[in-house]
Amino acid sequence: PKITYVEHDGTSRTVDLEPGLSVMKGAIRNNIPGIDAECGGQMSCATCHVHVDREWTAKAGPPREAERTMLEFADDTSEHSRLSCQIRVSDELDGLIVRTPESQG
Ligand code: FES
Repeated sequence: PKITYVEHDGTSRTVDLEPGLSVMKGAIRNNIPGIDAECGGQMSCATCHVHVDREWTAKAGPPREAERTMLEFADDTSEHSRLSCQIRVSDELDGLIVRTPESQG
C-alpha cells in the first residue's frame, strides 16, 4: 500500500510499504523527515505524531486511550492527530496521507 507523508512546508513523499508495518517504521526506513520516533514505537515519546488527512481520519480510526494520553505531550495536536507508530499499514489504507506537524520539522 502507498502512504504519502507531507511535511509542513508542503514537501510530499509517497512510499510503497508492506502491510503490517507501522506508518512510523515506514517513515524511518525511507528517511522521511519529521518523524523521529525516539522511543522506537513504544508509545512513550510522541515524536512520531502526525495529522491524518481528513479524508482518511475515519479509516485510520481514532487513537486508543493510551495513545490519546501520549498525544497530550505532543505539540500542535488536532482532532486528526495520531501517533504514527500506532497506525498499521494495510490494503485498506492504500493512499493514506499523513502530515507531520511544524514542530517536528
Ligand atoms: Fe514513540 Fe510513536 S515512536 S510514541
